[in-house]
Amino acid sequence: MAVTITIANEKGGVGKTTTAVNLAAGLALYLRDREGADGRVLMVDMDPQGHALLSSAYGQHDVPASESLSALLVESPPPSIQRMIKPSDHHPNLYVLPSNRNAMVEAARLMPTLMANETRLTNVLRAVQPQFAFIVVDTPPNTGDLLVNALVAADHIIIPVEPSYLGVSGLRELQMSIEQVRLHFKPELNILGYLPTLCEEQRIEVREILEQLEQRYPHQILPLIHKASDLAYAHSSHMDVFTYKPPRQRMAGQLASSSRATQEYALLVETVIERTGK
Ligand SMILES: Nc1ncnc2c1ncn2[C@@H]1O[C@H](COP(=O)(O)OP(=O)(O)OP(=O)(O)O)[C@@H](O)[C@H]1O
Ligand SMILES: [Mg+2]
Repeated sequence: MAVTITIANEKGGVGKTTTAVNLAAGLALYLRDREGADGRVLMVDMDPQGHALLSSAYGQHDVPASESLSALLVESPPPSIQRMIKPSDHHPNLYVLPSNRNAMVEAARLMPTLMANETRLTNVLRAVQPQFAFIVVDTPPNTGDLLVNALVAADHIIIPVEPSYLGVSGLRELQMSIEQVRLHFKPELNILGYLPTLCEEQRIEVREILEQLEQRYPHQILPLIHKASDLAYAHSSHMDVFTYKPPRQRMAGQLASSSRATQEYALLVETVIERTGK
């Protein structure tokens, strides 16, 4: 059965999508070397905002509403999920469940009026759980039913945080949502860790805030991701960073190249493998 990892933070622009794209791609690379075709990874795009995974990481742009995640979430009976899952351009064992921007906004509006509106993503994914080793869910930068669905469907949550005073102060609300999900749906829901992203090492406050984070969430701070032009360029080239900056000669099991961003996201992949017991 797949391990489902949701990338969440209600704050916008903290590196959720970048983390989802690179974690999913890194897991796919890692698993391909070890398990061949069986190590499949699914990335679920729940973000109705502009940073849709399809347009950032994949060649295809808009998919019709009827062939996107929103139809699975709101239509009854829902269409077939198998037909909707698309292969990625870059990794043979990576797949995407795409979203359509307008349809997703409409789905978010409709969902509060529907029955079982917190467990719809869980139910949608149940059918494909056995086909994947990992499912990575990217979420929108706000609260509401889409985020709740992504939390309820998760086994583990990764919370990207930008180490600024504003970035850290916003975490309490997410914490409360996670507590509610534990209480009502899933006591075992695990915070896999807080991932400091967009870290600028020359800024003094960054170190201060990282220390505060470590105090507030002992042993839950993941190895950090620096601000890196490779990540921004990979994003605008519609690639994950491992595809954008591959090692000159890739050896089996090797993710990282000379690019520091690949080393940092490779470390996240290893940590995820370790902590999920895969
Ligand atoms: N470590 C990094 N170094 C440099 N640029 C980054 C890094 N992480 C993310 N970015 C860039 O910052 C912008 C915001 O990142 P991203 O889209 O991943 O955030 P998000 O949390 O998904 O945003 P939203 O909440 O709007 O969905 C993007 O342009 C992305 O390319
Ligand atoms: Mg995003």
